[in-house]
Amino acid sequence: MHCSMWLAPGRTCLDIDAIRIAYRRYARLYDFYFGALFQPGRKAVVERMNCRPGEQVLEVGVGTGLSLPLYPEEALVTGVDISPDMLRRAQARKIRGGLGQVIDLRLMDAENMDFDDNSFDKVVAMYVASVVPRPARLVDEMRRVCRPDGELFIVNHFHSSNPVAGGIENLLAPLSQVMGFRPDFGLGTFIHETGLEVLDTRPVNLFGYWTLLRVGNNKSERADLGNALGQRPKAAASGKHPAHALYRKA
Ligand SMILES: C[S@@+](CC[C@H](N)C(=O)[O-])C[C@H]1O[C@@H](n2cnc3c(N)ncnc32)[C@H](O)[C@@H]1O
Repeated sequence: MHCSMWLAPGRTCLDIDAIRIAYRRYARLYDFYFGALFQPGRKAVVERMNCRPGEQVLEVGVGTGLSLPLYPEEALVTGVDISPDMLRRAQARKIRGGLGQVIDLRLMDAENMDFDDNSFDKVVAMYVASVVPRPARLVDEMRRVCRPDGELFIVNHFHSSNPVAGGIENLLAPLSQVMGFRPDFGLGTFIHETGLEVLDTRPVNLFGYWTLLRVGNNKSERADLGNALGQRPKAAASGKHPAHALYRKA
């Protein structure tokens, strides 16, 4: 599905190059601006994930790895990101912090992952859903690599129902390419288009302006929908692309 499905008519959508450029720009100061501000949401989602010893966890759009120290030592965490500049910082954080729970950090497009089907127990996207070019494609990939009875977790800002905040977000929407995310990203449309089976939600961060979603991995229902629409299921991937081995476990 094209990202214009998520936007008001005439709005620009994001593409991978625009995202890489935006996050090359953000990388150096990302932790300063978005570290403390978004950390309550990161803590809330990792707590909600309730990772058990030996569970395989995938974080898509791991960024500079601000969440990585929050995972319990017994978890097995893999992180992927499309921005080499952001991922380098995650790798440095892992080494600096001796984060043994982080088993792999890879340069990878979360909309088209190299992991085999059903590889992870839990898959999480923190502040990523409104950044990727095709959010429904992201969710489909999260489902595919998560085992059938696993869980997905998404924390994101969704378009505000408050007329003033929502109006400002609408005004900012044409700047999506420059900002690297879509301020007018709507929760209702997101749930409708992805077919998410939302188990629970809670507001997080400042003024509860962001939302944490816990989602059941209803991949069979989604596959039925895909088949009905004539889409072919993606074959299991090999994971052998050389660029993706850049940040493997040190
Ligand atoms: C707002 S940042 C969030 C970073 C991190 N999750 C955090 O909590 O701070 C969005 C991240 O998503 C990454 N990203 C955007 N599109 C992506 C894609 N298609 N595949 C993988 N990562 C992507 C960006 O490079 C960036 O690091």
